[in-house]
Amino acid sequence: ATAQIGVTGLAVMGRNLARNLARHGFTVAVHNRSQARTRDLVDGFGDEGAFVPAFSAEEFVASLERPRRLVVMVKAGGPTDAVIEEFAPLLEEGDIIVDGGNAHFLDTRRREADLRGRGIHFVGAGVSGGEEGALHGPSIMPGGSAESYRSLAPLLERIAARAPDGTACVSHVGPDGAGHFVKMVHNGIEYADMQLIAEAYQLLRSVAGFEPERIAQTFRSWNTGRLDSYLIEITAEVLAHRDAATGKPFVDVVQDRAEQKGTGRWTVQTALDLGVPVPGIAEAVFARSLSGDPELREASRALPGPQPEPLSGEEADRFADRVEQALYASKLVSYTQGFLQIAAGSTEYDWGVDPGAVAALWRAGCIIRAAFLDRVRDAYAARPDLPSLLSDDTFAAEIGRAQGDWRSVVATAAVQGVPTPGFSAALAYYDALRAERLPAALVQGQRDFFGAHTYRRADRDGVFHTLWAGDRSEERADG
Ligand code: 6PG
Repeated sequence: ATAQIGVTGLAVMGRNLARNLARHGFTVAVHNRSQARTRDLVDGFGDEGAFVPAFSAEEFVASLERPRRLVVMVKAGGPTDAVIEEFAPLLEEGDIIVDGGNAHFLDTRRREADLRGRGIHFVGAGVSGGEEGALHGPSIMPGGSAESYRSLAPLLERIAARAPDGTACVSHVGPDGAGHFVKMVHNGIEYADMQLIAEAYQLLRSVAGFEPERIAQTFRSWNTGRLDSYLIEITAEVLAHRDAATGKPFVDVVQDRAEQKGTGRWTVQTALDLGVPVPGIAEAVFARSLSGDPELREASRALPGPQPEPLSGEEADRFADRVEQALYASKLVSYTQGFLQIAAGSTEYDWGVDPGAVAALWRAGCIIRAAFLDRVRDAYAARPDLPSLLSDDTFAAEIGRAQGDWRSVVATAAVQGVPTPGFSAALAYYDALRAERLPAALVQGQRDFFGAHTYRRADRDGVFHTLWAGDRSEERADG
């Protein structure tokens, strides 16, 4: 056995991860269900490093040094289970299977428990950064045993992206499903970031009256400030691109129906189960679903409402500045929600996830990479018990300064009839957090009226019920 690590599943992500490992001097066993892919990899990239092609499961396992480290890069779901069942019987105690796909964290928990019972470590590792990331340095979010992480760390630290301060964007997130949970929330935040940027674009287009090229310039200038991020950078690229066939802006020739593979939806489903409000992420998922229902949109087109009246000159420029404030404030809110979801998952499953370490992992390599995450990491490092990101003095002060413009943008959008579910939901969440009294008291009254569901009083301990159908006197409901 000569290979330090093996990769099975050589579609583009697996192939690029194997190449990344080989380029860093590791000997990499490579295996794929159809042998042609294994041959293609060795023929095409064999000169990049030391690959050991394996054409059967037995050959693959035999080529790995012990403890064996196998990275599975196949489609999430059934295919992952099939590959695990193919390899697990060939492995020995202490060997490690890494699943680098976008698995659901509950599947990862199930697989980890099952394999742990068989003496095998199972590491559900979130890998972000797409094809390019896999090749040049992804952000890696591994869950599983601390022992398996010690074995994998020397390899993963070499191939991961590097943050601006030189640290590798990989660290042990926590036991069993913690890594895939954090990757799932990363994707939820990715959806929210994309939706907020899209709303900013729409406002600049419909209200400021900017053309796509001008909006690209606006995003480029925002990208030199506190919004500096990969998603803002690529947004400018997409907006500046013109369609070769028609000469029109690319964004005008693409169907306005957003698709999704499901990780954003998982984030929201899980948040509902945990009872954590993540309206920013939920609105982003719903906005994609709404855009993807052309029949409903067609049937609703005649509904009355205003047509946006574009501004011009300095007024348009001032509005664009306000949109930057609204975008930044809404982004802060969606990260607040995402980090609260991670905290809730960590409590529920007893993972001990360090939110500052998660922010550090996301500083480079992944889709949501952003300068801002350095500051998120600092906020949690300064106060590990921070109740939420908005409790950090610096972020609280920033959102405080942004809120006037943010409100004005949401109000303008409502008056002009431009849908901004992300901006509006973020603002409603912010105002709900800061409210001294919420109308939840009335909801409790309604529940008690129709179902004797009881309520608590603000002025006294205990559980109470009012005899709504009787003399409306109040009784204790807690014995
Ligand atoms: C990443 C991405 C990736 C995801 C795509 C597509 O971190 O590299 O999150 O894992 O598959 O972003 O997601 P949708 O098809 O759901 O938009």
